[in-house]
Amino acid sequence: MPVITCIEDLKRLHRKRTPKMFYDYAESGSYSEQTFRENTSDFADIRLRQRVAVDMSGRSTATQMIGQDVAMPVALAPVGLTGMQRADGEIKAARAAAKFGVPFTLSTMSICSIEDVAEHSGAPFWFQIYTLNDDTFNRNVLNRAKAAGCSALVITVDLQILGQRHKDLKNGLTAPPKFTLPVLMDLATKWQWGLEMLGTKRRFFGNIVGHVEGVSDPSSLSTWTAEKFDPTLNWDKIKKLMDMWGGKVILKGILDVEDAEMAASVGADAIVVSNHGGRQLDGALSSIRMLPSIVEAVGSKTEVWLDSGIRSGQDVLKAMALGAKGTMIGRAYINGLGAMGEPGVTRALEVIQKELDISMALCGEKRVQDLGRDNVLLPKGFL
Ligand code: FNR
Repeated sequence: MPVITCIEDLKRLHRKRTPKMFYDYAESGSYSEQTFRENTSDFADIRLRQRVAVDMSGRSTATQMIGQDVAMPVALAPVGLTGMQRADGEIKAARAAAKFGVPFTLSTMSICSIEDVAEHSGAPFWFQIYTLNDDTFNRNVLNRAKAAGCSALVITVDLQILGQRHKDLKNGLTAPPKFTLPVLMDLATKWQWGLEMLGTKRRFFGNIVGHVEGVSDPSSLSTWTAEKFDPTLNWDKIKKLMDMWGGKVILKGILDVEDAEMAASVGADAIVVSNHGGRQLDGALSSIRMLPSIVEAVGSKTEVWLDSGIRSGQDVLKAMALGAKGTMIGRAYINGLGAMGEPGVTRALEVIQKELDISMALCGEKRVQDLGRDNVLLPKGFL
């Protein structure tokens, strides 16, 4: 077992052990990848303020997100095709999250279905829905999520149309993969992935294939999704979806103060300041750059969370210091899953929590709730 001390270690193993097509799918951004890169480099530009001779006993990273207790302010973000990074990936990630005490969000575009995850993870999880222009599908999938005990709905609002990732086109990304010669050559060194995949029946989009009329196999799926993403989305439709759910709602993919104000006015319990991990609008500012103005505008009306670019506990600390009440991570846990399956996700969470705890102590703080602007030094022009 290699010694894993940071998320970068997990990323290296993820690359080594997972088919290139799926590693690239996770580790890329849209177009020139400027926003994808700046999501992480902007975090690095923020510095932490060291304090000494402060009592640092009795520290805790525990807090609440939308009133739910969490071991640290980090939820697992919805990630499509997680079950292609590793067989039964969504079940493995959900289990690791439940044991650790942080929320897991299941993507609409997952390989394991809502029912699969509910049956095998044994904990309430959150369900993410895209804004599709098919009320029958929406109603059906939300009823399934309710029946499975999902305790919150994440509505992703920044993907009415798909940003292009060059690598996915070049790799001919499909799920499951087509076994072309380059794919077979790649798999020659990644046999453990193949063996585990052979051992599961969960290789298709579990929330869709078999649940939607006319989509009985993956070949009909791309036509279905291309038709269903709603180019006419507006705030009335988002509100309708929220009412259809009737429970806690998190609106994910807000990057603008005016949109944040709309999200707060329709009654979102939380919003996620996010650029979809740099996978949608290339050229948009990083989430961490947009966070302070959004917190200032709506922080008293709704919980403001952040995702995109978090790779360490120090990043979580910086987001909390700039006003976030919680964060989500995508690639950081996917790296863990691709590297080592369920123990890899657990390891990613342990790494982040330890980094958060130690850095908090060295900043002279005991509780994540006490973090604030005083804990960071911002580069010129950041605000
Ligand atoms: C995503 N993301 C995403 N978001 C969503 O709402 N539904 C989805 O199905 C997906 N799928 C998806 C696949 C992959 C491979 C990635 C990397 C991301 C976006 C995700 O929820 C989150 O916003 C970002 O991952 C956050 O950025 P970091 O933490 O990966 O930098």
